Amino acid sequence: MRARIPVGAGLWPAFWTLGIQKEWPSNGEIDIMYDYKGHILANIATGTDQRWNAHWFSQTKSIADLGGAAWADQFHIWRMIWNEDAIELYVDDILINRVPLDQLTNRDGSGYNPFKQPHYVLLNLALGGMNGGPIDANLLPAKYEIDYVRVYQKKLLDKKASFLPGQTWNDLSGQVINAHGGGILYQNGTYYWYGEKRGGAESQGVNVYSSKDLYHWTYENLALSPSADEKSDISWGCLMERPKVIYNAQTKKYVMWFHLELKGKGYAAARAAVAISDSATGPFRFIHSFRPNGNMSRDMGLFVDEDNRAYQIYSSDENYALRLVQLTDDYLQATTKDSLLFRNHREAPAMFKHDKYYYLITSGCTGWAPNRAELHRATSPFGPWQSLGDPMAGPDGALTFGGQSTFVLPVYGKKDAFIFMADRWNPKNLLDSRYIWLPIELKEGTVKVSWNSNWNLSIFQ
Ligand code: DGJ
Repeated sequence: MRARIPVGAGLWPAFWTLGIQKEWPSNGEIDIMYDYKGHILANIATGTDQRWNAHWFSQTKSIADLGGAAWADQFHIWRMIWNEDAIELYVDDILINRVPLDQLTNRDGSGYNPFKQPHYVLLNLALGGMNGGPIDANLLPAKYEIDYVRVYQKKLLDKKASFLPGQTWNDLSGQVINAHGGGILYQNGTYYWYGEKRGGAESQGVNVYSSKDLYHWTYENLALSPSADEKSDISWGCLMERPKVIYNAQTKKYVMWFHLELKGKGYAAARAAVAISDSATGPFRFIHSFRPNGNMSRDMGLFVDEDNRAYQIYSSDENYALRLVQLTDDYLQATTKDSLLFRNHREAPAMFKHDKYYYLITSGCTGWAPNRAELHRATSPFGPWQSLGDPMAGPDGALTFGGQSTFVLPVYGKKDAFIFMADRWNPKNLLDSRYIWLPIELKEGTVKVSWNSNWNLSIFQ
């Protein structure tokens, strides 16, 4: 629901559901939005062994914390995601309450779960009463303005969903996923996949897709478009490669870095570029492009450490040097903390951390053709980095299974679960370059990746 709610003494706007069978509260109640006494509430109630006594899963947020009167003057979006795993209640993109479905069985010994039945949706503005409290007459007449209420049913997804590396991957609308050299950001229950939009002689910009489960992707947006302004660094005809997006919790901005080549200059400019957005799905606004500390910057990745420090890892010096530079606190610039990791003619860096080690997977430099991957390990982002050889195992491992590294994705909510992401480039039709995602095996401080033509997340413990 998108709505503007009235707030103040005695006003009690609500957006809620009740199950169609059994009496309250054994029928189950979900309060997607309740507001009274200066607090937003997101509640779920089940039955107990005492009639008319509910067991509440209740979370609140004060309107003052959300932004006070100025916040209340705006329209906001209240959202419920209710699926077989859990019920989640959001205001705008803030998750207020999440309760796993298996905790929502009535506490009366019956084993009945009222959230596995249809519910009614109710919208009303109540006045006064036990919860609203005394009414401030000056606030009347009060208005609860509802822009819309929408109900979506999730497409019935294939329970046997799996990753099929090297095959054509479509989004939920049936279009080929066009997000190459990409990276993934996990934010509030959603994965966002950013990558190069290919399909013309020139760069088409950066696409963003979203998914809850990593198998089914919804096309969201052209997150960053080349510019119509001829004078812009990203004017049409430029190259935008290997985009990565990170979230800055301090500034609440989504920050995109990518490898930029200026129009008509081949790969000579070798710049890092930065764009920013208030939303994960963009649109992103281009800010600037530069060579970090004067160094050439081609293939690149980003890495955010547990202390929220972020780093750009980049191929420099005609790709003969792999470097790492710490970003400023707002993630928009490179600092002077910039270090050579090793000289080894490598590109396509993908960095991740597990327990005490930082790992870096890179490719060799053979254009679009596949080559041997290499794994490095360190105990600090600045090194020293030790080579552990090729982590790709099995027959096609020596050529990275026909792919080139782009990102390593930590799977949210699973321990020790990382996905190696690579591109199997098709230089004749870059749009048809395929995605190779494979599970990473972590053992005794090292990394192993084996080919698997059909796998799913249950492979991880
Ligand atoms: C290899 C790089 O890894 C890619 O991102 C792209 O720049 C190609 N070279 C171009 O040949």
